[in-house]
Amino acid sequence: MTTSIKVNGKLQTVETDPSSPLLYALRNDCDINSAKYGCGLGQCGACMVIINGTPVRSCITPINSVNSNVTTLESYESDRVLNALNKAFIAEQAVQCGFCISGMMMSAKTLLDTNKRPTEQQIKVALNGNLCRCGTQTRILKAIQRAAKELA
Ligand code: FES
Repeated sequence: MTTSIKVNGKLQTVETDPSSPLLYALRNDCDINSAKYGCGLGQCGACMVIINGTPVRSCITPINSVNSNVTTLESYESDRVLNALNKAFIAEQAVQCGFCISGMMMSAKTLLDTNKRPTEQQIKVALNGNLCRCGTQTRILKAIQRAAKELA
């Protein structure tokens, strides 16, 4: 079946089972590589994207339930918050294997979009649904704090 979704402001048409996960359409049909397949069970956050200002796990989101623009890390050049996060993650060397990072940045963006001066605790709560197996959480936290300072 043909389904249309808007990704980073661009309308995309995909041939897919309407109940298949959004993540598959993003990666297989929309040239989106930032959202990753980690657990496929809604537990790790590697597949996180933003819909209606909310971080959403695209591996457990049926494509036929998506009726708003999907924001992914690929839009970082035109997004002030994602741009600041991108620079801060590099400056703090917050990436080890990198698999979790785009999901982390999606959660961080939704926080910084609504809270310009988050506390450490608020950042930790915002990242609750994102797991990092390499153990760079401390640097990720610092990177988000750096981005928040930059944006304030
Ligand atoms: Fe979606 Fe892990 S791949 S939450």
